Amino acid sequence: MTAAPPLLAADAAGIARAAALLRAGRLVAFPTETVYGLGARADDDRAVAAIFEAKRRPAFNPLIVHLAEADAARTLCRFDAMAERLAGAFWPGPLTLVLPLRTGSPVSKLATAGLASLAVRVPASPVAHALIAAAGVPVAAPSANPSGRVSPTTAAHVAAGLGHRVAAILDGGACDVGVESTILACLDGQPRLLRAGGLPAEALEAALGRPLDAPDLGQAQPVAPGQLVSHYAPRGAVRLDAESARPGEMLLGFGPVAGAALNLSPVGDLREAAANLFAHLHALDAMGAERIAVSPIPRTGLGRAINDRLQRAAAPRP
Ligand code: TXA
Ligand code: MG
Repeated sequence: MTAAPPLLAADAAGIARAAALLRAGRLVAFPTETVYGLGARADDDRAVAAIFEAKRRPAFNPLIVHLAEADAARTLCRFDAMAERLAGAFWPGPLTLVLPLRTGSPVSKLATAGLASLAVRVPASPVAHALIAAAGVPVAAPSANPSGRVSPTTAAHVAAGLGHRVAAILDGGACDVGVESTILACLDGQPRLLRAGGLPAEALEAALGRPLDAPDLGQAQPVAPGQLVSHYAPRGAVRLDAESARPGEMLLGFGPVAGAALNLSPVGDLREAAANLFAHLHALDAMGAERIAVSPIPRTGLGRAINDRLQRAAAPRP
């Protein structure tokens, strides 16, 4: 048995301690506005390898590198005019840009899975910002859950899933947005949406002045290797677009539906639903739900990311 990791308060002392652990090459779970991340310094092969080991994450699935400022990202990869416009409009915030990696970048090849591109993001969460700034190094961080399972939106979720595998968990309370960042590749002048997420695609389309293709769920050769069809899965089986629960099912409601075990947003608010999504899936796990039926959820705005995560949760498991 390993002792439970220290839960650090997100005050000056906790942030300083977490930053020192990161600098020393240890794993630290920390809050962002989207979900909790499992952080390691991105320029240290052994630290990055520990992320893959802790999550049991396939090594072909590259990581997002988190920076305190856009300038730090500019030292690691090349921004074209479009990437500059998007970073200016949406950073700090729940947008990840996949950009050409600069030669000589200190980022570990394990973090990029050997690709010539790098995923970078500047989180808006003040705790994440303070931690990364104090660490003074780029921080690679996937969501802090065992690979394939539901992402964590509280320190307690992290402790339950990966608690014995991290040096510390920085507790910043519940995440505001609740679904992962939107991922956009800007590699050849052609923007490509790789993952719907916390920044609605409509906002990107407005900034770019053009529509984006929807990311392809379960394409044979995933553009983002992490876009595995089965992901974000609770223990129970999931059925989508359910008008009501069948015998043996627990209903995860949206809007004013009757008989829901839990409701993502009784008033039908997508922002509230996104913030509740993973916490409710964790809670259904804890309630021992074997079959989960989910009310229909509109496929606009944050509803795109919510439906994307639920479709993966409902997909056949490997
Ligand atoms: O909100 C978020 O993005 C959270 C927080 C912690 O920042 N992080 C997160 O990381 O969701 P993760 O590892 O669960 O998802 C990262 C995704 C994966 O699907 C991965 O394949 C993709 O980013 N990715 C990373 N680098 C890439 C690259 N160079 N090209 C294409 N996709 C990439
Ligand atoms: Mg993840």
